[in-house]
Amino acid sequence: MKVAQGWRFRCIDCGSEFDADPPGYACSRCSGLLEGVKDSGTFSRAELFGRPGEGIWRFRALLPFGPDVRPVSLNEGGTPLIKAVNISRELGVKNLHVKNEGQNPTGSFKDRGMTVSVTRAVQSGVRVLICASTGNTSASMSAYAARAGVTAAIIVPAGKVASGKMVQATAYGAAIIRVDGTFDDALSMLLQTIAGLPGFSGMNSVNPYRLEGQKSAAFEIYEQLGFSVPDYVVLPVGNAGNISAIWKGFKELREFGITEKVPRMVGVQAEGASPIARAFWKGSDTITPFESPSTIASAIRIGKPASGKKALAALRESNGMVLTVTDEEITAARRMLSSKEGIFVEPASAAPIAALKEIGNRLERDAVVVCVATGNGLKDQETILTNIEGTPLVSERSGLKDLLERLATRIVVPA
Ligand code: F0G
Repeated sequence: MKVAQGWRFRCIDCGSEFDADPPGYACSRCSGLLEGVKDSGTFSRAELFGRPGEGIWRFRALLPFGPDVRPVSLNEGGTPLIKAVNISRELGVKNLHVKNEGQNPTGSFKDRGMTVSVTRAVQSGVRVLICASTGNTSASMSAYAARAGVTAAIIVPAGKVASGKMVQATAYGAAIIRVDGTFDDALSMLLQTIAGLPGFSGMNSVNPYRLEGQKSAAFEIYEQLGFSVPDYVVLPVGNAGNISAIWKGFKELREFGITEKVPRMVGVQAEGASPIARAFWKGSDTITPFESPSTIASAIRIGKPASGKKALAALRESNGMVLTVTDEEITAARRMLSSKEGIFVEPASAAPIAALKEIGNRLERDAVVVCVATGNGLKDQETILTNIEGTPLVSERSGLKDLLERLATRIVVPA
């Protein structure tokens, strides 16, 4: 099917251009990754930002669709940017903001991209959507498939997805297939299998429509900072679609005449699943896979990132960097964000805060830093130790009064 007027896809490896969606969303010459390209031009700020209330579809001017398309939408996007006032001193970052993507309809940033890729698939007459996932992509895709009235099939690494995400996929009615292996095994099996099967449309982030939707986070951050570009955007990196998408969003703001500056992109990987960090610091273009990636942050337990090449380009072009954090650091940062700011995220989403603990006080003093909190904490409950049985249980008022009186002696009333 033809791409929208004024748009085409370009292979990031061989530069081939396509004016229709290639099968499997891979370059039909060299199998490279594709990127959406819009004809050049300029926009005023009002043209891009003047349609509030339509989720990410308000940015239609920079989405590859004509004006007549009816989105498959759950009103994604429009998530809050929260100034993290309580932890900023401890992290050594005065101007710290958290973009809380956990408030999207299915609780993660994936919804921004899924509304776009599912809209396209439905427009093309596809009846079965399929993805491999560490959990959030599958939850999101299942919801949008339900909304569109098409079938969802998800392929997940057995026993390696947080239970909240499996609950979501089940509730939305997806067909669930488990793979005895890693996420990377699941994705490569999927990509090889659907290449020869008509009627299935792949919804992983190698599908460039996904990234067109996810780039909207950059537009919102710019708007929410009072039409100002941050100095740093810090986010967790797994399969590497999101860092590529957000970087594309900032580049487009510049390219279409809205901004002059771009931020430095800072990716964060878990130490046990950090192939991009390894390639980046070696100065290499070759990403050597981690065969057995391991981290508590199951969302980013990925050893062979499909969009790794795009991520390396984003890091280098933006003069950014990619850092690694340990599971202990992730867990402590997650606790810090929830107990001191009231923002409850899943482990992967705490990785940027963990990284800032290390490097925050080495950034410029007045730097404006945005951390992307990619997924909601409720999705991943098994990684939090609770001791509900060990908390007081009362059956009458006097017991409650007694407890509250004892508690009151511990409360420090601010002067
Ligand atoms: N944070 C969360 C909560 C995620 O679910 C993911 C990816 C990432 C960060 C990393 O984003 O892959 O674009 O670099 N989750 C995918 C999934 C892989 O299947 O849900 P990325």
